[in-house]
Parts: sequence; C-alpha cells; structure tokens
Amino acid sequence: MLYLNYMAILEILQYPDLRLRTKATPVTDVKDPQIKKIIDDMFETLYKTPNCAGLSATQLNLQNPPRITVIDESSTNKQPFCLINPVITVTEGKSNYVEACMSVYPDYNISGKVARPDRITFTALDRDGTLLEIAAEGFFSRCVQHEIDHLNGIIYLDHLSSLKRKMVDKKIKKILLKM
Ligand code: NI
Repeated sequence: MLYLNYMAILEILQYPDLRLRTKATPVTDVKDPQIKKIIDDMFETLYKTPNCAGLSATQLNLQNPPRITVIDESSTNKQPFCLINPVITVTEGKSNYVEACMSVYPDYNISGKVARPDRITFTALDRDGTLLEIAAEGFFSRCVQHEIDHLNGIIYLDHLSSLKRKMVDKKIKKILLKM
C-alpha cells in the first residue's frame, strides 16, 4: 500500500489562549515517529509563517505538547535548529531588547522591551538525539530564551512592567473586538 506522509502547517495559538500556559512534556524517545512528525510539521509551519524565527510546541494546537523548539533566524531558511528538551546551564550579562511573538498578534505591531541575559550556554538534543551544548549570544540567545519560556507556559508579555503590560492588554482587547 502506498503511504504518503504529508507535512502539515499547524495552527499557531493566539494569546490569551490558555493552552499557551501549558508546560511541555520532556521527550523520552527522540526516535518516536510521532515526535519526528511533530518536528517536520513545526519546521513546515516555521517556514510558511512570514518573519517567524522560532516556534515552540506549546504554541501549536498539539495535545500534550513535547519540549521541542524549532529556530531558524536566517533569512534564507538554511540554519534550522531543532532543540529537544533544551536547558539553559549558564547565563551572563543582562540587557533590554524589544520582543514580539507569533502568538501575540504579529500582524498588529505588538512588542515590548524584555530584560534577559545577553549570553547563555544551553544543552539540548537535536533531531537525531545527539546532545548539543551551545554558547549563544545576540538574537539567537534571545530566541532560545523566548522559546524555552514558551515550553514553560511563559509569554514575553509576562516579563513587561505592569504599566506596559496594561497598555498592551488594552491594545489586544481592541484587536479582539475588531475580529
Ligand atoms: Ni513567541
């Protein structure tokens, strides 16, 4: 029997969807075909979504999302990073940087300044189950931290000052009323 396994574009959940607050489940078997399929679909979704540098499984409409993040910050889509069970082991420095999120109305210019460590070292398994240890800085470091937050049910809005958060929530309310 001919069996075709099509890749699929997954729905990106939008704040304040409570599923964004799910804590992702550690992956115990990277060879599981279901896990491979989720990774393929996540990359497909990443590459088909304009201006998307990273996505985490908790942002997608998945039951019991696994601890998987996909990142490609290149404009040519040629630097795919699949991070399974990522853990930050070292942090250094701190600075503010404006962040936005695919789950927070990316077409409506919503963003906010978030203070995070500049440099991190993290470990993760790649798609083949190889243990990676990577020192990251700049935008890539930001992306990894933002995405690991997602796997813990945290959105960048949670890091904003209460005043800024109120302003953003007001803006989002207006967007939702127009939808
Ligand atoms: Ni995000």
